[in-house]
Amino acid sequence: MIGLKIPKNQAEYVRRILLKYSMIDLKLKIKRQDNYVLIPLIKEPPEEIIAEMGISQLEVVHTSFEDHQRSPRSLKGYLEGQIVPEKIEEINKSFDIIGDIVILEIPEEFESIKYLIADAALKFTKRRSIYRKGSKVKGIKRTRYLEFLAGEDISQTIHKEYGSRFMLDVRKVYFSPRLATERDKIVKQVKDDEIIIDMFAGVGPFSISIARQHEGKIYAIDINPDAIYYLKRNIELNKVKGEIIPISGDVKKFLENNDIKADRIIMNLPGMACKFLKNAIKSLKEGGILHYYEFSSDFNQPVTRIREAAGSRKVTILDKRRVKSSSPGRWHMGIDAKIH
Ligand SMILES: C[S@@+](CC[C@H](N)C(=O)[O-])C[C@H]1O[C@@H](n2cnc3c(N)ncnc32)[C@H](O)[C@@H]1O
Repeated sequence: MIGLKIPKNQAEYVRRILLKYSMIDLKLKIKRQDNYVLIPLIKEPPEEIIAEMGISQLEVVHTSFEDHQRSPRSLKGYLEGQIVPEKIEEINKSFDIIGDIVILEIPEEFESIKYLIADAALKFTKRRSIYRKGSKVKGIKRTRYLEFLAGEDISQTIHKEYGSRFMLDVRKVYFSPRLATERDKIVKQVKDDEIIIDMFAGVGPFSISIARQHEGKIYAIDINPDAIYYLKRNIELNKVKGEIIPISGDVKKFLENNDIKADRIIMNLPGMACKFLKNAIKSLKEGGILHYYEFSSDFNQPVTRIREAAGSRKVTILDKRRVKSSSPGRWHMGIDAKIH
């Protein structure tokens, strides 16, 4: 193990400089030797850092250090001293826990300590697998590249949400635990015996949550065959009262070829849902409810789009809300509209 030996009276000053450069091995204990202090390091400090200290009585030594027995109480606690606090906060906020899996957003600048961060997340969350977001959510299936970092590389899991269980593979399908409250809001609006179309159903979190609480019929459509595979598994996994009909394919084609009139339609494809609005409105009964989602900076754009697509049909906006932030200044907006 490598350490820095410095006179006792300068130890605090040197420790602060080493912390600033994330040089201290925080898993090990600092030790004292007569009038000296030995600080455990992750690597030999570069010349510039030594120069910044401006101390002549300083020596890089190879010695043993004891482990810290304390286990971290938070990711922040574990990473303190390795990364500046604001950056830890950034990593902390972008955490997603899906069943046994943790998905982290680690900025490029921390490439060299990504395994340290992943290890901290593994210990702190006590989950099975740690992945890093390797791209934005993209393509028609709305999936992202995930880089495996720690634990076991098993991307299938079962996520629990408000009493529902969703089996899914984070590499193959879209799923966001951040929509839990939104789904609950929708479930609470549904009445028994409705006919519902879940246009972009994914593994079925809206459909399953509704069908667990309500009788009725739900057409759950998705273009990603993996999503439909898990949707079918999830129907088996949950005690559903309502009937869910899983359909694999393009919802536009499905609605054009099937004359279904629904009481309620859910359109959770915020980047592209506007392209499907006309089809949706055509499939809504008089007085039917639309749950429309769109990425936007204001409510004006999604509301205008609904009104335009409705043409001569009267539209009553029942609610509009910011579901979650999507990027600075932009939101995943949710609009509930009654189409007369
Ligand atoms: C943002 S995800 C939402 C999934 C699910 N509603 C949820 O909350 O987890 C959008 C889904 O729409 C599906 N999708 C995209 N284009 C589609 C289309 N034309 N027809 C049917 N599904 C589509 C994708 O495969 C993806 O699973």
